[in-house]
Amino acid sequence: MALNARSDVADALDDDLYASFDLASPIPRYRFPGTEIEPRRAAAMVEDQLVLDGNARLNLATFCTTWIEPEVTDLLARCFDKNMVDKDEYPQTAELENRCVRMLADLWHAPDSADSIGTSTTGSSEAAMLGGLAAKWRWRKARAAAGQDTTRPNLVCGSVQVCWEKFGRYFDVELRQAPMTAQTFTLTPGQVLERCDENTIAVVVTFGQTYTGLFEDVEAISAALDDLQARTGLDVPIHVDAASGGFLAPFTRPDLVWDFRLPRVKSINASGHKTGLAPIGVGWGLWRDRADLPEELVFQVSYLGGNSPTFNLNYSRPAAQVIAQYYQFLRLGREGYQRVQGRLYDSAALIAETVAAMGPFRLIHRGDPADGIAAVSWRLHPDADTPWNLYDLADRMRTRGWLVPAYSLPTRLEDLSIQRVLLRHGFSEELARLFLTDLQTNVDALNAHPPSTSMAEDEAGTSSHTGKPGSA
Ligand SMILES: Cc1ncc(COP(=O)(O)O)c(C=O)c1O
Repeated sequence: MALNARSDVADALDDDLYASFDLASPIPRYRFPGTEIEPRRAAAMVEDQLVLDGNARLNLATFCTTWIEPEVTDLLARCFDKNMVDKDEYPQTAELENRCVRMLADLWHAPDSADSIGTSTTGSSEAAMLGGLAAKWRWRKARAAAGQDTTRPNLVCGSVQVCWEKFGRYFDVELRQAPMTAQTFTLTPGQVLERCDENTIAVVVTFGQTYTGLFEDVEAISAALDDLQARTGLDVPIHVDAASGGFLAPFTRPDLVWDFRLPRVKSINASGHKTGLAPIGVGWGLWRDRADLPEELVFQVSYLGGNSPTFNLNYSRPAAQVIAQYYQFLRLGREGYQRVQGRLYDSAALIAETVAAMGPFRLIHRGDPADGIAAVSWRLHPDADTPWNLYDLADRMRTRGWLVPAYSLPTRLEDLSIQRVLLRHGFSEELARLFLTDLQTNVDALNAHPPSTSMAEDEAGTSSHTGKPGSA
């Protein structure tokens, strides 16, 4: 039977793809397929499924890379077989990772970039959790050495990305989250001070808030914690979640002080696969100096040959993205990153200006590089009496393929819905103009033909499709 099936396959190789029997029959969905099929047909079946996915370039919800140079595609294809964890077999890949860590330490002003320590990760979430774990270990060691209770660690933060909620739950740390307010939308020094005590392992300051795109003020929060220490002796470290901001401000606002220039900043995470311009699958976690990463978190393994240190949550992971990250650093340098990111802020300014002029919207983040990431966020003006809401507008924008998420803000501001666009590498000014034309056309269409029943957040598919801040 098996032999017959094989010869049937061989006989059918010349069939037109879409006239073939395989593509004319229902394909297996949830049961493990019983038979083998020819690669070209299997590929066509898979691709046919994917044509219904959205167009990544029109997805203004995601923070992640959706455009890469052909050289990067080529590198990815040639490096697919390299495993990042296997540093003995791929010592040059390990060296490139090491160089990236040193370059980032330099970019983020570590006191001694040769002595700083860091790692690539699968994304910011993993790097954030490693930063949180290191803080928990440092706090516990110090408390145990002083004979104090070590059972109730807490982490102070504002409206963080879901990775910090995961950190709290997975690693048993109380999350003391300050609510968002409509005055600043970001974590304030006062909110931090109200929540810190002797069990605070760290304060997480988000440098490029997921909800609005705004930077939280790391320098002001650091100064408030300096003052707290002077008054009470409490020495609370800062972890900066610079998932997106870490690859923006160093190039577009180098005077903004948010990184290791502040002695209280002990660790930083950033997403290589967001504003770092690498393809999806790489993040970075860095510590100010070696002493800030407790040695108990670093494992030495010998079973791949040699002796390799590892401090990741995952073991095996692809190395190709790390190699692509090194390529981007080498290819663009400070000058290139400044130009790429500068262009995105220019597009953000154009979008902000035009959206503000449309009438019914009030800007929350206007895409100014001093205030936040290359994004624009807005709400409906409180006085705008529109017969539609932002979910209706998001839904209409989908008819042209644009994904412009509308979502409600977190605790205490959940009645306030906002809409956000993220500008990413590959989003040209021409695309920005096309987007704005479609936005105006859809606003006009909604005014002329108001929906009989407005959409609600869940109906707009916000959390699953349009990138509610929980998603990347
Ligand atoms: C501020 C912030 N932190 C962490 C993350 C999670 O990053 P990743 O998707 O790289 O795991 C995101 C994702 O959007 C984010 O905006």
